[in-house]
Amino acid sequence: MRILVTGGAGFIGSALVRRLIEHTDHEVLVYDKLTYAGVLSSLEPVASSPRYRFVQADIIDAESVARALNDFKPQVVAHLAAESHVDRSIDGPGEFVQTNVVGTFVMLQQALGYYRGLNEADQACFRFHHISTDEVFGSLGDEGLFTETTAYDPRSPYSASKAASDHLVRAWGHTYGLPVLVTNCSNNYGPYHFPEKLIPLIIIRALNGEQLPVYGDGTNVRDWLFVDDHARALQAVFERGAPGETYNVGGNAERKNIEVVRAICGVLDAVRPRTDGQGYAEQITYVADRPGHDQRYAIDASKISTELGWEPSKTFEEGIDLTVRWYLDNQVWWQDILDSRYATQRLGAAHG
Ligand code: NAD
Ligand code: DAU
Repeated sequence: MRILVTGGAGFIGSALVRRLIEHTDHEVLVYDKLTYAGVLSSLEPVASSPRYRFVQADIIDAESVARALNDFKPQVVAHLAAESHVDRSIDGPGEFVQTNVVGTFVMLQQALGYYRGLNEADQACFRFHHISTDEVFGSLGDEGLFTETTAYDPRSPYSASKAASDHLVRAWGHTYGLPVLVTNCSNNYGPYHFPEKLIPLIIIRALNGEQLPVYGDGTNVRDWLFVDDHARALQAVFERGAPGETYNVGGNAERKNIEVVRAICGVLDAVRPRTDGQGYAEQITYVADRPGHDQRYAIDASKISTELGWEPSKTFEEGIDLTVRWYLDNQVWWQDILDSRYATQRLGAAHG
């Protein structure tokens, strides 16, 4: 297969591309604008493969999208390019509307034009796969799980923009017959995660002897999935999923934020103990809450399990251990980001 991956220089996109090049015979074209979140060194492990290509361009640029489609002739468009950080969406929602909503509209229009030019056999194989989030479903109380039929209730500028793009994708499926797939996934973590997100931010700040900021009282719950398991799920969906369908993807690993932070501290205490004999948990600091902070997300991933045979392969404890060790072994990757792009300062609190 030829797979065009938008956002392939990002955290999840690069995990998908590494997987496709290292574990399949597929060819990959990464289409990425290289925003602050696009990190080319995350693609270094596959950069010399003859089955890998890269184009730097914006998904809002219809001409560039059309050129990429017509030159590369993909069977699959895996659309991951997005502004992805909730805190940044609070500080500056405009970019989220541009990239996530307008950009997805451009991708759909160009994919439809390309699809209409294919012969019948190629049309039968073509898939437009939109990679989305569980945050479109809103916030849960102590009980319940999001299923594929849960009503949308997005509550941050980020999740509202992703909900809008999900609706556009399904509308292009229903109205124009574009063979679309949507996946809604929970919180990913693992290697090459940009240091604005909770888990890498805590690991890096802990190692740098800084405060570990926990928003509010630390009881907000997220469901955590190791990123390589998400990449396997995406591959299962675009290879075997039924056009028009939605699949929820999750890790069966609900944790309170404070539990996540303590788990990271525990691994660091064991692997790289502080020189003063104290534990890293000493650095935990409760800070002002995120405005509009969703309380709990939890995913029912039984559909993708039953229909496509996908299951997460790692427990949270295995994944966190592996992730902490990866950050210890790959300081060059994150130090470069700290020096040139973002140094783990607080985001998204200005309008609280
Ligand atoms: P990320 O922020 O790490 O990467 C986003 C990538 O998209 C970057 O490489 C960036 O350069 C690129 N990009 C941004 N705007 C672009 C534009 N206008 N044109 C072309 N490229 C552009 O994001 P991520 O965490 O890897 O998330 C990828 C996708 O998965 C997003 O759509 C996100 O909503 C979704 N998602 C993420 C998670 C998660 O936990 N991170 C969970 C579920 C769903
Ligand atoms: O649920 C899927 C979503 O998960 C994806 O769609 C998003 O792209 C991804 O960024 C992630 O969103 P979250 O807002 O859940 O992730 P984040 O890492 O920013 O925060 C996780 C939790 O930790 C959240 O409850 C806020 C809290 N937090 C975050 C940071 C950065 C803190 O307590 N302290 C922090 O410093």
